[in-house]
Amino acid sequence: MPIRNISVYLTLVFFVTLAFAQNREIVTGCIAGNVTMQFKPALLDGKEVKTYVWNKVRGVNKDPSFAKFEPSVSSQLEIYFNEEHKVQNRLFHYPEEPATLYLTNLRKSDQQQYTLVISYVDYVGTPTEWIIDLQVQDVCFEKPKEVGKCAVTTCYTGDNGVLKTPDGAKQTVMGYKLVKVCDDKTSGNYSCCNAAGTCLVQALQESTGDNMPSDGSSGNTGMIVGIVIGVLLAVIAAVVAVVFIKNRREELSHALFVFSRTSSSRFCKLG
Ligand SMILES: *[C@@H]1O[C@H](CO)[C@@H](O)[C@H](O)[C@H]1NC(C)=O
Ligand SMILES: *[C@@H]1O[C@H](CO)[C@@H](O)[C@H](O)[C@H]1NC(C)=O
Repeated sequence: MPIRNISVYLTLVFFVTLAFAQNREIVTGCIAGNVTMQFKPALLDGKEVKTYVWNKVRGVNKDPSFAKFEPSVSSQLEIYFNEEHKVQNRLFHYPEEPATLYLTNLRKSDQQQYTLVISYVDYVGTPTEWIIDLQVQDVCFEKPKEVGKCAVTTCYTGDNGVLKTPDGAKQTVMGYKLVKVCDDKTSGNYSCCNAAGTCLVQALQESTGDNMPSDGSSGNTGMIVGIVIGVLLAVIAAVVAVVFIKNRREELSHALFVFSRTSSSRFCKLG
């Protein structure tokens, strides 16, 4: 397991290095899901940022402007060509995270290259850039998580998707649907399909509890119960010890008192 962790770590380092070298990265989201686009431009030291401008490719000879944030002018993100980008009420930006965009309820048309261009107050030169290639997957069926004795996952299909349950029933999915399997009856293979008929299958099983996962919440619950019992036992032991010592002390002082009042001859006999 440590070797696996190390290799995962090295792979991450490799991709981060690659991303830094190229000033760009790929961000993947699910249709109807949410995505965080964290742009990581290498800001110039000691220079005040004037504008954060995001461009999105719209086609040749077209103004690529997508959005702008100018902290000295407004705390609001300005969105361009919204009738075309259709991100109203789906695009969120917080001034305290100036280079990050949150996009909700993803559409296929969001899949595009986004470039953040930073310009500075007292600096004219090459602007700082960071590119995100946003990919939007047509169907997503996440690996289930164990929550108590339930297997929980989300099926993302966009509009008019279909979730097929093991008993053969079909449920319509508008955007995405949370799927929860908590008993044997509903356990089995679930199929998550978009309107175009692309499907992903996932086996969802009621958790038996005997294969306690190290990262599952049932494992944590077990550990918490263990800690609580341990603390309780420690408190009981401490109380018993205090009471015991107190009693013994009283006994002892009583004995000493009695002893001091008895004759020394008795003491000699005892000795
Ligand atoms: C996406 O974010 C919105 C707003 O924060 C939230 O209501 C919605 O449940 C999120 N969607 C998913 C799939 O988590
Ligand atoms: C679920 O799918 C897997 C792989 O496709 C298959 O081996 C298994 O038999 C299926 N289980 C049920 C209950 O149909």
